[in-house]
Amino acid sequence: MEFPPRPELFEFHGVPMTHYFTDLWERVQNFKARPDDILIATYPKAGTTWVSYILDLLYFGQTSPERLTSIPIYDRVPFLELGHPSFYSGVDLAENLPTSPRIIKTHLPVQFIPKSFWEQNCKIVYLGRNAKDNVVSYFHFGRMDMIEPDPGDWNSYLKRFMEGKVVFGSWYDHVNGWWKKKQTYSNLHYMFYEEMTENCAKELDKLCSFLGLSPSLEEKKQIINEVQFDNMKNNDMVNFSTSPRMNFKILHFMRKGKVGDWKNHFTVAQNEEFDEDYKRKMKDPTLHFRTEICDWNVAYK
Ligand code: A3P
Repeated sequence: MEFPPRPELFEFHGVPMTHYFTDLWERVQNFKARPDDILIATYPKAGTTWVSYILDLLYFGQTSPERLTSIPIYDRVPFLELGHPSFYSGVDLAENLPTSPRIIKTHLPVQFIPKSFWEQNCKIVYLGRNAKDNVVSYFHFGRMDMIEPDPGDWNSYLKRFMEGKVVFGSWYDHVNGWWKKKQTYSNLHYMFYEEMTENCAKELDKLCSFLGLSPSLEEKKQIINEVQFDNMKNNDMVNFSTSPRMNFKILHFMRKGKVGDWKNHFTVAQNEEFDEDYKRKMKDPTLHFRTEICDWNVAYK
């Protein structure tokens, strides 16, 4: 198929964006949230689809299983700010969602969230991922997602990521901005990709407690099984293989799903420079990301 030309990055209210995320700005900003809406907020490539699928299964896995096999995840969980006047509007999709609650996804930094979400005191789930794996995943995504600016080569991409010159801006500002918000907005649950990888069941329990849900043990087991990387990779309703904007000839959307893959990309020099810069930008000792986790299966071999 023909893919449209890659969009350009430009500064938008202080944050680098592309027109795909600003074309419908007024409509996004005026979006009318409902009190039971649930917003999933992430920096791109933090595992948004993973947590979206978990929430979708929690709310609708038992009551409307037909949704799971007939509607792609990007239509079940609309991407609020994604929009193009002539072909797609996340706002339209969200407004027309027949479900209650409506589960909506966003990559917006906290200062851009439409005010009705705060006014309605909506539940918000934030998922963060360590910067090193996040940048690797974002780089590869840029190669295959035709509505991303061309990522160029890895070294220059890494530099631009550190400078915050990628779509949705600085990772550092994003994760810190949302972390800070948690101090004043209690309906915000902040999760970490690494903890999900390490112990999905524990994170599912914490998530359910935040949402006020109490699924049976059987349901939880089913969900944990459904959302395993390989199962999601083989599930066309969640793996984006039906999305016209992605070029699967280049790469699969469900790429590796690992903590620590950055080690296969960073040179020693890049890693040192990244760490130095990271220390300067990440001053809050209460916000801690892990760049590796112990794989117990390997550790005890
Ligand atoms: P990788 O590129 O490192 O493989 P998003 O949904 O925010 O675009 O994030 C996509 C990233 O999350 C990809 O990372 C993808 O493989 C990973 N991911 C998606 N589902 C996952 C799962 N069930 N377990 C682990 N990682 C998952």
